[in-house]
Amino acid sequence: MMRIGMLTSGGDCQSLNATMRGVAKALYRMFEDIEIIGFEDGYKGLIYTVYRIMRPEEFSGILTKGGTILGTSRQPFKLMRTPDADGLDKVEAMKHTYRKLKLECLVVLGGNGSQKTANLLREEGLNVVSLPKTIDNDLWGTDMTFGFQSAMNVATNAIDCIHTTAASHGRVFIVEVMGHKVGWLTLHAGIAGGADIILLPELPYDLDIVIEALKARTRNGKKFSIIAVAEGAISKENAALSKKELKEKKKSGVVYPSIAYEIGAMITERTGQEVRVTVPGHMQRGGDPCPYDRVLSTRLGAEAAMLIKNKEFGNMVAVQNNDIVSMPLAEVAGKLKTVDPQCSIVKEAKMIGISFGDE
Ligand code: F6P
Repeated sequence: MMRIGMLTSGGDCQSLNATMRGVAKALYRMFEDIEIIGFEDGYKGLIYTVYRIMRPEEFSGILTKGGTILGTSRQPFKLMRTPDADGLDKVEAMKHTYRKLKLECLVVLGGNGSQKTANLLREEGLNVVSLPKTIDNDLWGTDMTFGFQSAMNVATNAIDCIHTTAASHGRVFIVEVMGHKVGWLTLHAGIAGGADIILLPELPYDLDIVIEALKARTRNGKKFSIIAVAEGAISKENAALSKKELKEKKKSGVVYPSIAYEIGAMITERTGQEVRVTVPGHMQRGGDPCPYDRVLSTRLGAEAAMLIKNKEFGNMVAVQNNDIVSMPLAEVAGKLKTVDPQCSIVKEAKMIGISFGDE
């Protein structure tokens, strides 16, 4: 009997179940005598040996269901080497669970931090295969992560809804989009939702330029404007400061709930314009996976099973030029895929007049 462990780690997304289903269905077809062990709540289940033996039926009917049937949790990579409150060495505990259950391989569905931990376990001698999950699309080595397209749909819908009310009231609206430190989600949802201004962490903005873009719209007879701002967006002024200086500056100034509120307050102060802020927040990770993600998850899942069959451990499955490939975890772990300010999608957005507040 071969035993494969599986866990979903970090912030959830819409297509985790679809991905696990892909892995499991392929594995059950490839091996006659196989058992999948599902660890509960991410690495926590592996650390504290909380698991269940999955029944094959559990992977049926979940292609279309958001969330994760295994549960998830954030176990920060930087604390992995720090013993827990009871003095337990987490890395040793994970290795112990893996060996106690006589696993052939651990399958990890996770984002950046989770890939780093997967790589750590690989370095510690465990067989690991991982899959690229995150609504942020910031994993290096893959063109696309599962979850991103579904989150883009939600964020786009939010901007669509804002359009009608913004038009009726002639207001400036700011929609804050998730994405952590990168702007992929904001860039795509912003273009898809017809935002007039898109502010990304990778292209620090100048408030004067943002305000000028708003004024230009008014001069052109546009009664309303929509700004899509990434939660990690930063002004040119702040980007020039060191981490310490920025912390000091934030301590001494007005505390805003988030960047969208800060920009909104500044615009009102400087122009007297009525501004409203909308933060769709975790809705962007909620609901069911879109068709694109269901297909991507199925493909990634099947190819992850193939890696296990071929004993090609220590790899993450990835998308490159619409093909599913494998990337060594050692290469992927710890690297962030950010938006290149010179990339063609940014250029094309600028060509149709979208302002990024940078020039
Ligand atoms: O990484 C996914 C993500 O949704 C980011 O876009 C966001 O910054 C973060 O997770 C939110 O984390 P939490 O769910 O822990 O608040």
